[in-house]
Amino acid sequence: MIEVRQLTKRYGEKTAVDGLDFTVEPGTVTGFLGPNGAGKSTTMRMIIGLDAPTSGTVTVNGRRYAQHSAPLQEVGALLEAKSIHPGRSAYDHLRAQAYTHGIPRRRVDEVIELTGLTSVAKKRAGKFSLGMGQRLGIAAALLGDPATVMLDEPVNGLDPEGVLWIRNLLTSLAADGRTVFVSSHLMSEMALVAEHLIVVGRGRLLADTTVQNLVREAGGDLVKVATADPGRLRDVLAGPGVEITGHPGSEQLQVAGLSARAIGIKAAEHGIALFELTEKTVSLEEAFMDLTRDAVEYHGTTEALGRAA
Ligand SMILES: Nc1ncnc2c1ncn2[C@@H]1O[C@H](COP(=O)(O)OP(=O)(O)OP(=O)(O)O)[C@@H](O)[C@H]1O
Ligand SMILES: [Mg+2]
Repeated sequence: MIEVRQLTKRYGEKTAVDGLDFTVEPGTVTGFLGPNGAGKSTTMRMIIGLDAPTSGTVTVNGRRYAQHSAPLQEVGALLEAKSIHPGRSAYDHLRAQAYTHGIPRRRVDEVIELTGLTSVAKKRAGKFSLGMGQRLGIAAALLGDPATVMLDEPVNGLDPEGVLWIRNLLTSLAADGRTVFVSSHLMSEMALVAEHLIVVGRGRLLADTTVQNLVREAGGDLVKVATADPGRLRDVLAGPGVEITGHPGSEQLQVAGLSARAIGIKAAEHGIALFELTEKTVSLEEAFMDLTRDAVEYHGTTEALGRAA
């Protein structure tokens, strides 16, 4: 379990993390989501004591990271920066880590196999592709068989097979009862691996919720209906939990709280002809964009491209 309380980090004028409060529970995969520069990596660095908080506290499994006598066995972390000697093989890198932490040699073989690095384990890590480097970082994170696993952007650079592998790995680590905390700036990725979500923007907490709730809060599923008699259709569909919107004079209505099927049946019962009946699912990406719209710091434009053309 990771407990973050009023955690704040300032770099000079810049507040990278601003009074964050959340708990990462064991047994499920928790996604840590936010646009570029939201403070995810800074928070993760503070969790494992690589950066000191300006104020506030963070504990892992009940203690500050530095207070654990065998930290690798407590928290396994993959942070963005590659901290590996380029001339050393993957195997030797893991051996050295294992040796200095009292972890048996057989565990090195286990994590190499687990991360699919067997065929390249004796090669220099400096020559590794981005995806292989990520796998090696994950192997190192799992070396101590830790109760808490924390990965910063693990999907970065992985091919589709690798993404699927990560998803299964994280799900099974969580199913073992471990605490699994994974960051990303892509909602679509997180939706596939995480059940719970911590969303941040400009260092602040924007949401602490489940993937399911986020979709519901963003407006849930809507049905678009078009009919020649929108006034009558409104009357027929009205009821508790049903919300209908539409521009006056327009044939189109948006209905929340009823399925397309239920709307079709009611319309038929009352002899109302429909011209259109489409379910419009709010995508997680849209829900995330709505939530973080005001917190995106780095906006790209395509204007310059237009000028050049
Ligand atoms: N060592 C540092 N010195 C000064 N500013 C820093 C430092 N580390 C991070 N920052 C700033 O703090 C903010 C948060 O950065 P952080 O790397 O935590 O964001 P992030 O959510 O991980 O973003 P990304 O999705 O791009 O990885 C950024 O504005 C960044 O420039
Ligand atoms: Mg980051």
